[in-house]
Amino acid sequence: MPTRRTFLGQTAAVLGLAVSGRQVSAASHASATLVAREASVQLAPGGYPATSIWGYEGRAPGPTIRVLQGERVRRRVVNDLPEPTSVHWHGIRVDNAMDGVSGLTQEAVAPGQSFDYDFVAPDAGTYWYHAHNRSWVQVARGLHGPLIVEEAEPPEVDRDETLVLDDWLLDPETALIDTSFDQPMAMSHGGRIGNLITTNGQFDLSIPVARHTRLRLRLINASNARIFPLQLAGLRGWTVALDGMPLAAPEPLEDVLVLAPAQRADLIVDVTAIAGETAHLVRIGNDDRPVSQVAFPVSGSSAQTPRAVPAALPPNPGDGIRSLADARPLRLVMTGGAMGRMDSALLGGERLGFRALAARGRFWAFNDMAEMTQTPLADLSIGEPVRLEIVNETVFPHAMHLHGMHFREIRDGRPVGPMRDTLLVAAQETREIGFVADNPGDWLFHCHMLSHAESGMMTWVRVT
Ligand code: C2O
Ligand code: CU
Repeated sequence: MPTRRTFLGQTAAVLGLAVSGRQVSAASHASATLVAREASVQLAPGGYPATSIWGYEGRAPGPTIRVLQGERVRRRVVNDLPEPTSVHWHGIRVDNAMDGVSGLTQEAVAPGQSFDYDFVAPDAGTYWYHAHNRSWVQVARGLHGPLIVEEAEPPEVDRDETLVLDDWLLDPETALIDTSFDQPMAMSHGGRIGNLITTNGQFDLSIPVARHTRLRLRLINASNARIFPLQLAGLRGWTVALDGMPLAAPEPLEDVLVLAPAQRADLIVDVTAIAGETAHLVRIGNDDRPVSQVAFPVSGSSAQTPRAVPAALPPNPGDGIRSLADARPLRLVMTGGAMGRMDSALLGGERLGFRALAARGRFWAFNDMAEMTQTPLADLSIGEPVRLEIVNETVFPHAMHLHGMHFREIRDGRPVGPMRDTLLVAAQETREIGFVADNPGDWLFHCHMLSHAESGMMTWVRVT
């Protein structure tokens, strides 16, 4: 009889095949529901009990939604959870009504109720979906999954693997999810950092490969607050897309790739390790030690010999911002957090001191406001170019995410690099982004360290 560990390993291998093939496309079209529900899954190593999570279809990550570029995504989200929920399609330029932000674009879906999401996926790439009601709790409990939009002509690879990186804060005795979601220490520091790191829900994911195999790795950081510094070992690779959006030219990945919460990276990698060795996607640990995030045990050699540098992915429609002439200047100053200089901020129209704010679960402010305000950061006209300076006066990094539109970074007064939806702004750093306000509606701009968003780091823009 197989032990629990090997049994789980086999199950995972079967699932891994199922989610990476094009075949599943048909099946996922047929089942148009996505049930958010409680489930019991084995997250922690053998010997530990199973963990009760909240997951789409009872899994974390939830099922991979795969469509062709330009196709519709239709899902009836059924809420079988004990509290209201909603689903946000992170990075997809959806119609505002489908953006899934409870309290802004829709009412949260009550337990026992459902909501029909229906939108077109205009851009190919690696995206994800996650809960957007009480997200600092619901995403931490497991409510997220990959959303893959395939190019009409995908790059030639032997395998296409989606790797959802996550961490879980579990009680070390019971392996149950630690429910101190509102813990002031986490909220006012780096956010909720887990003590069990997983890929696709497994702490020891292993993907057997042959030498010279070419893989496309779609990395998604679904954690609440953990920044993953990643490296390749026994693999030669290139970054071909960031946040789903293609790079103009593949960039060799020789150094560290930093993946902030909510960010994605598409890599094309060739297995260079020889049979009997194990290649790794490596995570740089706290003490700077490399740890295996995903193992790729190598057996045999594929018929292929080493291949040429991959071609760039086909560009997505929409050019983003190209010129800053006439761009409307906006500014966002981030303050607060532990060891910060925020003495006071506005909450409910009142100026409160740091302690009074903390007593109400507010630790951060955007432009002196410790909450999302009734009026937007900016009222933008459709088609208006915008440049937004982001001033991080805190001593923590923040992963800033814009809904509904993609931006480019502005460096030396010029928009550069690929379009993105999430930018990591380091402590005490100022960065600038530019975008064209081409999607009508109310769009959030917030920190994706989700407990930061909840405790003050959230604002929005209106495009009409
Ligand atoms: Cu990925 Cu406002 O969210
Ligand atoms: Cu933050």
